[in-house]
Amino acid sequence: MLKVDQVCVRRSSVVTLKDVSLSLASGRTLAVVGESGAGKSTLINAILGLVPCATGQMTWDAKPVRNCRPALVMQEPRSAFNPRMSLRHSVMEPVRALHEDRLARLCSGLEIAPDLLDRRPTEVSIGQAQRVGILRALIAAPPLVLFDEPLSALDAVTQKHTARLIAQMQREEGFAALIVTHDLGYAAAFADDIAVLRAGRLEEITPARAFVHAPQTAYGQTLRDAAFALGALERVA
Ligand SMILES: Nc1ncnc2c1ncn2[C@@H]1O[C@H](COP(=O)(O)OP(=O)(O)OP(=O)(O)O)[C@@H](O)[C@H]1O
Ligand SMILES: [Mg+2]
Repeated sequence: MLKVDQVCVRRSSVVTLKDVSLSLASGRTLAVVGESGAGKSTLINAILGLVPCATGQMTWDAKPVRNCRPALVMQEPRSAFNPRMSLRHSVMEPVRALHEDRLARLCSGLEIAPDLLDRRPTEVSIGQAQRVGILRALIAAPPLVLFDEPLSALDAVTQKHTARLIAQMQREEGFAALIVTHDLGYAAAFADDIAVLRAGRLEEITPARAFVHAPQTAYGQTLRDAAFALGALERVA
């Protein structure tokens, strides 16, 4: 289980995460929403150990999070890969011993044609690169996967499809998923809980269904109402 306990993060003397506490168990999905600059990517970077916590603690099963080798799915799928290497090379880099059957099963689950991996990142569509990004994150069977806006580069149909693929892979693999997203419809449909960050503070963590009907805070309500106004929440309300 991931435990974030009263964490503060400072960047260039500005406090960008303020006293943030949350937990996330295996097989569960936590969506993190909130305005631009709220600290969502900072939270991911702190969990990965890329920025230090000024105070507080982050652990996975009571040990440092990095020990569990958490995986990251980056927001910009094509620039997340080395442009000079084949996608296969980038995907296989973190894997010590290759299990061909696991690669084949993940490719099939994520609907990646095996020969696609022989291309370079500029030779595939963004949607294809996004799925290869998910493949790369999952190849070493991480217990914790951090997604930074994993669907933002995709059209609505591919978004829906990829969201279902991620959920399906999670059911099969049992990893804990922390998903930063601006799409409350996605969060409400696929996450167990929704965490609202604002100016570095966690305003509320609410079960996804309950959030759609009754956010606990005024800011949560503002986000929910804006998503309703955009029509992003109709399908799940
Ligand atoms: N390397 C950095 N040095 C100093 N301040 C930073 C750095 N990276 C981010 N910040 C600041 O930290 C705050 C949180 O930024 P962060 O990138 O976590 O926001 P975010 O919620 O991910 O926003 P977005 O939705 O736009 O991606 C912002 O005020 C930002 O300006
Ligand atoms: Mg961000």
